Amino acid sequence: MPNITTEQIKSMKGKQKIIALTAYDYTFAKILDEAGVDIILVGDSVGMVCCGDKDTKSVTIEQMAYHTKAVARGVKHALVIGDMPIHTFDDPKGAVKNARMFLDAGATAVKVEGNIVGSVKALINEGIPVMSHVGLTPQTAESFKVRGKNKEEAEKILSDAKALDKAGIFSLVLECIPAQLAEEITKAISVPTIGIGAGSLCDGQILVCYDLLGMFQDFRPKFVRRFWEGGDAVKEAIVQFRQAIETGSFPSQGESYT
Ligand code: KIV
Repeated sequence: MPNITTEQIKSMKGKQKIIALTAYDYTFAKILDEAGVDIILVGDSVGMVCCGDKDTKSVTIEQMAYHTKAVARGVKHALVIGDMPIHTFDDPKGAVKNARMFLDAGATAVKVEGNIVGSVKALINEGIPVMSHVGLTPQTAESFKVRGKNKEEAEKILSDAKALDKAGIFSLVLECIPAQLAEEITKAISVPTIGIGAGSLCDGQILVCYDLLGMFQDFRPKFVRRFWEGGDAVKEAIVQFRQAIETGSFPSQGESYT
């Protein structure tokens, strides 16, 4: 089966929910792909969940290209999107140069946070498909709280969404905004919205895979549903491994060479 295209993602709006998750390495990407995920985002959340950074502000383009390459190797069907780190898309020329690093690493599209219409247009003019991200934008956020609760902020998020739609993006992440605002944006723009903490009426949903698997345990936003207590399960397996060595049951004869 060929990889999902950005055009196919666009055509899913209003017809079929879009399933998106983050991945950072080959093994996880392969599992997500085989499970039928439509979009695999190599998120700059890698800084927090894989490297223990306190936010995403110190993630580099080289780091992202490295992880994108690993993810792309594991994916046969999903659309792979590379998340452009802070300051790598500040100016249109730099944005195009940096986005090419993601394409060279195997991504088909890039994601950029905020309403940087000049850079978004430059990317699209160069044939690089863009997913945007509004609401809570972690690269510039001082706090991880809900956005768009007051009228002024809600209107700004809506007008940013419309401007990005007009600029030609193929989809838009809505992070941590009231469900009603997400619904309004979803109805107002022509491309699919992908929600994270934005209620059920977006065109699709995304989560950080380590959150959904219960593996990242430093904090847990209200919008995260854990579909597995993976952190506890992995810890239990490691304890069993330790105990098997201590009691001498591992390795067995069958696990040894003669
Ligand atoms: O970096 C990331 O993982 C993201 C998603 C949560 C949308 O931007």
